[in-house]
Amino acid sequence: MSANAERARLRVAVLASGRGSNLKALIEARRRGLPIDLVLVAGDSASAPALRLAEDGGIETLALDPAGYADRASFDADLFARVAGYSPDLIVLAGFMRILDAAAISPWIGRMINIHPSLLPKYRGLRTHERALAAGDVVHGASVHFVTPELDGGPVMAQVEIPIVAGETPAALAARLLPCEHRLLSTCVALIAEGRIALDGEIVRHDGKALAVPLKCGIDGSFAPVA
Ligand code: GRF
Repeated sequence: MSANAERARLRVAVLASGRGSNLKALIEARRRGLPIDLVLVAGDSASAPALRLAEDGGIETLALDPAGYADRASFDADLFARVAGYSPDLIVLAGFMRILDAAAISPWIGRMINIHPSLLPKYRGLRTHERALAAGDVVHGASVHFVTPELDGGPVMAQVEIPIVAGETPAALAARLLPCEHRLLSTCVALIAEGRIALDGEIVRHDGKALAVPLKCGIDGSFAPVA
């Protein structure tokens, strides 16, 4: 039996606030053979389409309302304690629209990733498509990074790039990028599931080698060889 066949399936919890298209991409990738178990989809809004999607896919869901907590720290502490109850190997932030409390996430550093719609370190935070267009950038893209207390600031494992089309709107750019995000995220989760990528302190290792620059994901989800 090969090492990969012996490896246990990765237990993945997804945190999402919104429409859930990246979650859907993971559900579909799992159907096609991605070796993960989606053990929980949790969010901060019971009405989020992402949670409906999870229920329809037979995945356990958890919705916590931030209004029921004294502050962000107590919400995050409860959320991550409950998530921990599902013993995930990996937490994926897929459109989870909250700034996270440093104490709550510190046990998960190296085991939590986020997908962000920009070529980090450019454009942390919101309105990334609009900001890339306003800056006159000729390329835009998305990044998957390990989560640290710094917002959108953790070590980047992989990126996908697309050219910007002159005169396009932020919405059009976002719509062109989204399917590339889906492939990028699925490929990153596959690399983690296969034990090929991991965080070592502040360094991302790919097949044991420190990555000097993020892996480049093709728009078809493939990775270019790293020099
Ligand atoms: C994506 O653009 C992702 O990069 C960002 O939030 C959006 C979530 O979209 N973090 P969806 O809910 O997965 O459709």
